[in-house]
Amino acid sequence: ATGMVILLAAAALAILAPSARGLDRADFPPGFLFGAATSAYQVEGAYLDDGKGLNNWDVFTHTNSGNIVDGRNGDVAVDHYHRYMEDVEIMHNLGVNSYRFSISWARILPRGRRGGVNSAGIAFYNRLIAALQQKGIEPFVTLHHFDLPHELEILYGSWLGAGIREEFNYYADVCFRAFGDRIKLWTTFNEPNMFTKLAYMLGMYPPNHCSPPFGNCNSGNSQREPYVAAHNIIMSHAAAVDNYKRNYQAKQGGSIGIVIAMKYYEPLTNTTEDILAARRALSFEIHWFLDPIFFGEYPKEMREMLSSNLPEFTPAEKRLLQNKVDFIGVNHYTAIYAQDCISSTCDLNTYEGNALVFATGERDGVQIGESTALVGFYDVPEGMEKTIKYVNQRYVNVPIYITENGYSQYSSNTMEDMVNDVGRVNYLQGYLSSISSAVRKGGNVRGYFVWSLMDNFEWVFGFTVRFGLYHVDFATHERTPKMSAKWYREFLTGSGPVN
Ligand code: NOJ
Repeated sequence: ATGMVILLAAAALAILAPSARGLDRADFPPGFLFGAATSAYQVEGAYLDDGKGLNNWDVFTHTNSGNIVDGRNGDVAVDHYHRYMEDVEIMHNLGVNSYRFSISWARILPRGRRGGVNSAGIAFYNRLIAALQQKGIEPFVTLHHFDLPHELEILYGSWLGAGIREEFNYYADVCFRAFGDRIKLWTTFNEPNMFTKLAYMLGMYPPNHCSPPFGNCNSGNSQREPYVAAHNIIMSHAAAVDNYKRNYQAKQGGSIGIVIAMKYYEPLTNTTEDILAARRALSFEIHWFLDPIFFGEYPKEMREMLSSNLPEFTPAEKRLLQNKVDFIGVNHYTAIYAQDCISSTCDLNTYEGNALVFATGERDGVQIGESTALVGFYDVPEGMEKTIKYVNQRYVNVPIYITENGYSQYSSNTMEDMVNDVGRVNYLQGYLSSISSAVRKGGNVRGYFVWSLMDNFEWVFGFTVRFGLYHVDFATHERTPKMSAKWYREFLTGSGPVN
């Protein structure tokens, strides 16, 4: 009889659509954060409001509109700056207990430290934080999510000049002082391993530099640039963490980390060459920033392959790196295959080229997982568990937040298709199950954020690609919950659809 009841219960569950089948919020540890994420440039708009300075993306999208698929920009984005109250209400309806967003550096310090603090910028984030707290939603803050004051880009080539370290440290200090009584979760940088490649190797993000043999842009420069920029970012991060730990953490009681983009790489074949290639790919992607942060030096694979193109840490720099992060933010979307390009020739026009790795989604004509709209992003849920395990093993079981995970669709789809996002529901369900499996086996994961709360400005893809749980009409800015928003709400609250 018990068997019968279970069968009937299972059948009842199976017909609820969309349903959080087999997945229960209670499978996750108490206090686990569930949220959604955005970033300032992608959602705020209001690019000239209330004393904000121009940032690198404002200028880049205006002067290089040809680099953006639809030629558009984030001047208005999805108008979150003016609609933040509505957006907080949306989050409250979803049932999330945390919201990950970034602060716009140019709103706080329009000209960097020499111009002083813009109090209207501080006031905006105070209003946002107050609205979140009123609904019991924990703010999770990124200091740098790709945008920085344009003036600093000119002065230092953004991250190329060592002078940027003091600028970042100053900005971080202003934020800790202004918001740290209420912000308990800080991250310094979002995906520095991704944007330094896009900005200094592939010529796709400002300041639009390329290094040989990649890209095709005006300012061709040396192979060293991405690594010099990364070095300055690592040290900017270290200075801010050191300052936070020495001057703020004890009285404010928060924690601080960094967010790294992590794909998972499977060897294309079982040959030693491909196995080593997958290892190099992980090294160039994950260890590049995290080894210095945890162990005070760059990984062996990078030192061997890049030799003098890779900077070295001075003793003073190593000392600064001794204050450790409290957690790692993992942005994980996909897994791909890695193929060796040292003993065989391949098309190196990929990010992974510097590790002499070719990354592909196919083996023997079979894809690693279902494709999503963004090229190279496949739905491979088990990659999540593997990534968590990998990070926990290498970095001494440090707590992890999954700071981004999400599914892309094209804007060219019909409204009906965009809103009936079954693919996203399956994706989120698969990845959340994979996290819960990792946690059951001892994975040290503390929270999860869907990218993104709502459709927004997807960098070089402009408004052509959508990641939101909420559909945004880019003309009227109306927000409409997709099936995935309803699914997430059901998972989080156990209750039925929102409208
Ligand atoms: C990475 C970035 O942090 C975010 O800004 C971007 O929109 C998503 N992933 C999707 O590509």
